[in-house]
Amino acid sequence: MGKKEYDEGYTNKIKFEARNANLEHYERVTGRSSLPKDQTYWTLSNLQPDKPTTGQYVSEIIQMTSMEFVTKDRFHGIDCENEIIHQNKNWHPEANWYCGDWCEVIRYELAFRTAGFVYLDTTAMAGFDNAVRMLSTTIKVCGRRITPVIAMNVMLNSPYGTQQFDSRKLVEGIKREVPSLLLSAWNKEICTFTYNWTDKTTMQTLIFFRH
Ligand SMILES: C[S@@+](CC[C@H](N)C(=O)[O-])C[C@H]1O[C@@H](n2cnc3c(N)ncnc32)[C@H](O)[C@@H]1O
Repeated sequence: MGKKEYDEGYTNKIKFEARNANLEHYERVTGRSSLPKDQTYWTLSNLQPDKPTTGQYVSEIIQMTSMEFVTKDRFHGIDCENEIIHQNKNWHPEANWYCGDWCEVIRYELAFRTAGFVYLDTTAMAGFDNAVRMLSTTIKVCGRRITPVIAMNVMLNSPYGTQQFDSRKLVEGIKREVPSLLLSAWNKEICTFTYNWTDKTTMQTLIFFRH
């Protein structure tokens, strides 16, 4: 994580629009513009400042709560960086913050069984083991009684070189890792959208949901 990114969190136009696109996909898939009251929102958090750090764009928690998609007490953020979680707790004590590895936390926290929307907002390279591990664990651990939507973010190219990554490899990886009986309940056509994170990096968001 670069210093600038760490200081500001993701309070910028590109990220704001990408999160808006998530909500549009959620509405298209479920017919709803907000999460049902008994469901929760889970994200890989990074810093979530309580006001814009530069310009007008707000952090994810402010965006999602001001659009009335979810309330703060049903917002759950996970990050492996202790400092990030500590800071987010200060800014938003009403929300739920966990320091640790995504897969470990969701396996352990029973509250994850109520997840209705999951923003698996990684900067992992599409198709790499880490991305497959995070998505397959999420699909396996999601509660059985609700219809969760997962928006998974991956990188399509290396910011440091010319290497390209193919998100079809991510889908192939999931088919290897998740039992087919479980996977058969999930969407077959994965819809995606891409955005340029920097002039060097293209991100892709893949939308998964259970019928
Ligand atoms: C792209 S940022 C999240 C941005 C945020 N969702 C937003 O919209 O503003 C990804 C965060 O995930 C954290 N992270 C990466 N891999 C992780 C893992 N396996 N477990 C927990 N946190 C992780 C990083 O420390 C980073 O802060």
